[in-house]
Amino acid sequence: MRSLIRWPPTEMSATRSARKRDTRLRSCTLLATVVVAGFLLAGCQDDSPSVLDPHGPRAELIELLWWVLFAIGSIVGLIVVALIGIALLQAHRRSQDAEPLPEEAGGTGFILGGAVITGVIMMGVFGFTLWTMNALADPDDPIALTVEVTGNQWWWEVTYPEDDVVTANEVHIPVDQPVLVKLTSDDVIHSFWVPELAGKLDLLPGITNEFWIEADEPGIYRGQCAEFCGTQHALMQFLVVAQPREDFDAWLEQQRQPAVAGEFPLIQEGQDLFFRMGCAACHTVRGTDADGKVGPDLTHLASRRTLAAGTLEFNNGNLYGWVADPQAIKPGARMPNLRLTRDELYAIVAYLLSLK
Ligand code: CUA
Repeated sequence: MRSLIRWPPTEMSATRSARKRDTRLRSCTLLATVVVAGFLLAGCQDDSPSVLDPHGPRAELIELLWWVLFAIGSIVGLIVVALIGIALLQAHRRSQDAEPLPEEAGGTGFILGGAVITGVIMMGVFGFTLWTMNALADPDDPIALTVEVTGNQWWWEVTYPEDDVVTANEVHIPVDQPVLVKLTSDDVIHSFWVPELAGKLDLLPGITNEFWIEADEPGIYRGQCAEFCGTQHALMQFLVVAQPREDFDAWLEQQRQPAVAGEFPLIQEGQDLFFRMGCAACHTVRGTDADGKVGPDLTHLASRRTLAAGTLEFNNGNLYGWVADPQAIKPGARMPNLRLTRDELYAIVAYLLSLK
């Protein structure tokens, strides 16, 4: 029987293993390059919200903490890699000269010094983190507004308690003013995260957590649930729309109004169907008898930018698709497939589109 291991190695197999080592080294270098390039290029995707692109005082403090930790981590990492490199080189040189290792390599002083430096760095980082947390606790200006956000599998209910306004998946705030956000959940734990404006905060059933957010320029900031909450966790998104105060007030005033359905016969037919098919048992449309609390308030549905908590852009085609078969778009969502006929679908969507 032929042995699988040749020993002692022949010259041929030595060359072959050297070549194999070369190939392995080249593959490792290539892999490392791809990984590093991946990390570097990850920041280039400009539609992803980033902690490193802050648009408010809260996010700026978090960004500063991030850079400080990154700088310290990088310096320590480089020093450690350099020391390992020097040690390896020395060991290699000694093995070539057949020189014995010195009795005492480094010594106790070196080890103690390392421990002290590590301790000082850790305490420094801890202190800076505490300082950041303290600076984040209260805004410089008084709170201008309170918004309540309730997490649901898998969408966000957004309430303006002082104005009797309820909407979903879109948090409007006035720019340059701190807004108090009160968070709770109707089912499991979720987490409210708008990377460009603030850090994360959990939404817990039965408990209200609160923090403030502020945007320093008008814009639409993407938010994402940051705590795994079931199969559609990734599709539990929302938008924070920061507007100049007048625009925000106009929006709030418009949202305060009850729904006004259009006069067209198709819209009227859709409204009738909305009640007959049972939609009103789950959804509220202020100004009508629909007062369900299971799904999002639809009073001004057609004024929103997305559907199904950021899953789809709000437009006619997507609304048809969503109402026709929500389970195909967001499996497990509580909105069922109503098996509507084509004419029923047209009528219901005409009604929903009139809810501006
Ligand atoms: Cu809600 Cu993840």
